[in-house]
Amino acid sequence: MLLLNLDHVAVAVADLDEAVEGFRSRYGVEPAYREVVEEQGVEEAMIPVGGSYVQLLQPLGPDTPVGRFLERRGEGLHHVAYAVPDIEAALAHLAAEGAELIDAEPRIGGRGARIAFVHPRGGNGILTELVELA
Ligand code: CO
Repeated sequence: MLLLNLDHVAVAVADLDEAVEGFRSRYGVEPAYREVVEEQGVEEAMIPVGGSYVQLLQPLGPDTPVGRFLERRGEGLHHVAYAVPDIEAALAHLAAEGAELIDAEPRIGGRGARIAFVHPRGGNGILTELVELA
C-alpha cells in the first residue's frame, strides 16, 4: 500500500501565534508540536485533528518558499501530506508514473520525519508532500 493516511493539511499563515490562538479559541485545540524547520524556512505548529494534523506554516522570511507563496496568494491551503510506509519506494513509483518530483531524494522535515514534495502539475493542482515518520 502506497498511502497510510492523511498526515496533515498545511496552511500558510502570516502570524503563527495568531493562527494558533484562532484554533484554540474556535476549536479548543492546542498544538501538539511547534518547531522551527530552518531547512524549509518555516516555523510550524501541528494542530491535532483525529489521527491527522493541520500544519500551520509561518515563513521565517519573505525570501522563502512559504514567504513567496504568501506574497503571491495570501494565506490559505499550501499542501496536503500523506504518510507512506517507505518513502523511497513511493518516490520510485511516482517517478515511474511520470510525476514531477520536487525532491528526488527524501530530506528531513518537522518531527524528524523524512519528507519529499511532489509538484502540483499533474497532481490536480495540489502540492503534495510524502511523509515517512521517524
Ligand atoms: Co507539510
